[in-house]
Amino acid sequence: MNEVRYGVIGVGGMGRNHINMFKEVKDLKFTAIADQVQDNIDQVLKDHPDVKVFKTADELVKSGECDAILIATPHYFHPDLAILGLENGMHVLVEKPVAVTTKAAQKMNEVAARHPELVFSAMFQMRTNPKWAKIKQIIDAGLLGEIRRFQWTATKWYRPQAYYASGGWRATWKGEGGGVLLNQCPHNIDLMYWLLGSPSTVSANLSLGKHHDIEVEDEVIATLTYPNGGVGVFIASTSEVPGTDATEIVGDKGRITTSAEPGDQFVWDDFGKSIRTFTYENKEAWPKLDTIKSVVTAGGEAKHTTIHQNFVNTILGKEELIAPATQGIASVEIANAMIMAGIEGKTVSLPMDHDAYENLLAKLIAESEAKKK
Ligand SMILES: NC(=O)c1ccc[n+]([C@@H]2O[C@H](COP(=O)([O-])OP(=O)(O)OC[C@H]3O[C@@H](n4cnc5c(N)ncnc54)[C@H](O)[C@@H]3O)[C@@H](O)[C@H]2O)c1
Repeated sequence: MNEVRYGVIGVGGMGRNHINMFKEVKDLKFTAIADQVQDNIDQVLKDHPDVKVFKTADELVKSGECDAILIATPHYFHPDLAILGLENGMHVLVEKPVAVTTKAAQKMNEVAARHPELVFSAMFQMRTNPKWAKIKQIIDAGLLGEIRRFQWTATKWYRPQAYYASGGWRATWKGEGGGVLLNQCPHNIDLMYWLLGSPSTVSANLSLGKHHDIEVEDEVIATLTYPNGGVGVFIASTSEVPGTDATEIVGDKGRITTSAEPGDQFVWDDFGKSIRTFTYENKEAWPKLDTIKSVVTAGGEAKHTTIHQNFVNTILGKEELIAPATQGIASVEIANAMIMAGIEGKTVSLPMDHDAYENLLAKLIAESEAKKK
């Protein structure tokens, strides 16, 4: 194989955005779509009159027209469509979040494990930002030392009420399974997991429809603890202007701070030694504490096309995956834990009780007022 024939399942807003990017991806041949909304199909056909159109994903994956599928439907459909693709020999690239619940993600991962010959990737394009890749290198090389604390503010996700009204599935327990944690923040939470690993406990102050007429969360302040005793605070909102996109990651040997502007830079304060050791070994009561401060310009930005190119290149045996979809369960679990912790007013331990979360979500769906409107 020297090119990958791509089918797109779900050609709404994001599916069509992806299609517009395909011309920048080498060795990708766009061959087919599956959707039932004629207006969305027509918009694709305007620029791609030769693309094959299928009414269902099942017909598309069995058509012989594709080697790979991109799943860009509302989130609840992601795991079943990924399973459908994998079981029919398709390489699969799934949009974020990979699933709404850990139980669904786990089922999908079990199928993926039975198909190691297929490439299974997730659209976590923030991992392609050179800034985050460089920060990961620094953390993984131990240059920050053991991570003690972080603060992660992800409030640059403002959405007006009209956004929530733009799709019947949006911001409902039944259609989306959550709000800012399921729609906007899977990117931030994936980065948090990618850099810092999985927490051991999560507690949260979760506001449901505080700033919008929606039933799901639009503001979250969560506290996370980690197996090494580290702690973190995660703040998310879709109601703040201008909003903040900033992190502070503090280790035993240094600190990294990031902000949205400029988005390709971060500040690295290197203590050059372990503060924990210094605290006990130094004999002065008021020591002078200097750090080597570097402003690191990583250059570049996050790109969806990099994930597409990486997916294609991995299928063609030229690269390793940047964002394996099986890792997506981690950010789903953290989001589920924040929702459960906030709604039930308790600290949730990870790994979570998958069935307990399914029961909570089923209860939220059953009690939903949104479906009665
Ligand atoms: N990675 C990113 O930057 C990014 C940005 C926006 C959205 N997304 C993700 O993309 C997904 C879609 O979001 P959107 O804003 O495009 O939604 P949308 O409502 O605009 O489009 C969804 C499309 O999927 C179709 N669809 C629904 N069920 C289907 C099925 N079973 N088979 C085939 N088609 C089906 C709908 O008819 C619609 O055309 C979401 O999961 C969202 O989280 C990712």
